[in-house]
Amino acid sequence: MMLSLKSAPLTLDEIRRRLVSDTTDRHFYLFSEVDSTNDSLRELAGRGAREGTVVVAEAQRRGRGRLGRPWFSPSGFNIYASVLFRPPIVPDDAPAFSFIASLALVDALESLGVSAEIKWPNDVLVDGKKVAGALADCGMRGAAVDYVILGIGVNVNIGAAALRDALGPAARFATSVADVLGHEVDRNALLAAWLDAVAAWHRRWKEEGPAVLRKAWADRDILSGRRVEVRGDGESFVGRVRGLAPTGALVVVDTLGRAHHVTSDEVRLYD
Ligand code: BTN
Repeated sequence: MMLSLKSAPLTLDEIRRRLVSDTTDRHFYLFSEVDSTNDSLRELAGRGAREGTVVVAEAQRRGRGRLGRPWFSPSGFNIYASVLFRPPIVPDDAPAFSFIASLALVDALESLGVSAEIKWPNDVLVDGKKVAGALADCGMRGAAVDYVILGIGVNVNIGAAALRDALGPAARFATSVADVLGHEVDRNALLAAWLDAVAAWHRRWKEEGPAVLRKAWADRDILSGRRVEVRGDGESFVGRVRGLAPTGALVVVDTLGRAHHVTSDEVRLYD
């Protein structure tokens, strides 16, 4: 169906009202427009912002996707939000930590009755089409991780025609929550559900360790066992996905039987 609904505005009151998780220590920032919520939060992190700080924007001028790609970020339809963490991890552990973002969105969508899956690393798909993506930025202090920013972009009420205009042929691999449900979606409620789920997965990570994220992620992952094409800066190759390494890298075995640990490449289903 075709939908393009400028929905009710995001407001801090509406978001907070719906949150179940403890907000006493949380600082929220809501902007009408920023370059990128991840970049705004990075600035705040540099000035000492504490864990749990959230930046949300109605629009982004330079929304960033993975692999240096732009993220389509028009005003009034979607969710662009970033959360700050200061986890005591080494850089190699950051990819697995970032799974919090997509796991939480799958939960938030489930609360709306939408069943979603994850494509490595953090794409959230409904009926095989991408509805959201997450971008993790990691700040260092010497050799240690100073902060991790998890940013999520969700196509919420944007219509198929607007996606086609913005993404061109790639729009056939994209959708929005409203298009899936056939009705407008309350962005304040969906954002609050995501933030609550982020808090819940973060708590589980603290209490049970990273294996809990890898296991939950693997249960929702669409690539394991599938043939994929991996495209990176260097070689491209075809192989079969064996699963996740402890770090969160995707393990792909090529046609010569060599195992590759893929961390920052593009992975596409091959058949
Ligand atoms: C991807 O799938 O390529 C990741 C997309 C991540 C987009 C979000 S929108 C909020 C946050 N700020 C950004 O600039 N990017 C992320």
